Amino acid sequence: MDKKVTVIGSGNVGATAAQRLCEKELCDVVLIDIIEGVPQGKALDLAEAAPIEKHDSHLVGANDYAASADSDIVIITAGIPRKPGMSRDDLIGTNAGIVKNVTQQVIKYSPNAILIIVSNPLDAMCHVALEASGFPKNRVIGMAGVLDSARFRAFIAMELNVSVESTHAFVLGGHGDTMVPLPRYSTVAGIPITELMSKERIDALVKRTANGGAEIVSLLKTGSAYYAPASAAVEMAESILKDKKKILPCAAYLQGEYGMQDLFIGVPVKLGAKGIEQVIEIRLTDEEMAALKKSAAAVEELKGVLKRLG
Ligand code: NAI
Ligand code: 2OP
Repeated sequence: MDKKVTVIGSGNVGATAAQRLCEKELCDVVLIDIIEGVPQGKALDLAEAAPIEKHDSHLVGANDYAASADSDIVIITAGIPRKPGMSRDDLIGTNAGIVKNVTQQVIKYSPNAILIIVSNPLDAMCHVALEASGFPKNRVIGMAGVLDSARFRAFIAMELNVSVESTHAFVLGGHGDTMVPLPRYSTVAGIPITELMSKERIDALVKRTANGGAEIVSLLKTGSAYYAPASAAVEMAESILKDKKKILPCAAYLQGEYGMQDLFIGVPVKLGAKGIEQVIEIRLTDEEMAALKKSAAAVEELKGVLKRLG
């Protein structure tokens, strides 16, 4: 393949993202992890599935970042996931150190890569990666909005008994309890869901979406969601690798847009070969803007925690 994507962290999200990348034949894939044998074993296992899955993506597993050299994209999933009773924010102390260290290794070998951050707490980890990499803001992108919007879309499709393919949804804001699902911009075949459902039902779906990660954690008990998160990260990678210029909700570093300054938060962006090629500023009602600002305040708080951690 002429494109190369490295996935750091070969756990649930990382290995599933590697599987999706190669089975869509988007690129060659390098899996890296701190645990010896795990990335090598999972890469070999995926390579042995290739004749059946009918793809020619090459897969390599490694503990050494030399294998990641000259990657077009690096997806960072390294870190610990939450367990029942934990919030994403409880992970900050451990994951900030991991994401900083990983980013420093990545940039030695792939100075021109685009980073897609997955590790939680997502918006805070984007700040860590931006600072540790010194990359321009268009090349550090957080995955959350695509996942949260996919959850909202799945619930809309279940509610109305329609194809998921007919649904579109936007969930903006930080990847936490304050996320901002936008029913006005969420549609079925172009029809806003506000015309298709009662306010009570919309409120219920919005609540389930905001609680979507915790719902899976409470069922799995030993970790968090990974199929949908991997799909979301790979949709972003595909848009970049193919320069598709999809408009997707992603965590982007805002410098003035939506009235926010020096802050990662989920907004609609155009994703193409250069990474974030445009932040799309959609018109928000006073109520929606207030919700976005509340979410921004929660991310600001985590920025404060990062500062205290040093
Ligand atoms: P996991 O525990 O299955 O995998 C994490 C992997 O990272 C492990 O294999 C571990 O050995 C590896 N790792 C730890 N430290 C490392 C280091 N210094 N260098 C390289 N690898 C290292 O966890 P899972 O489920 O894959 O989740 C990964 C992260 O992604 C978690 O922080 C989780 O909260 C986050 N997440 C974020 C989502 C989002 O929407 N942004 C969605 C789902 C998960
Ligand atoms: C999720 O939303 C854990 O952030 C992850 O599933």
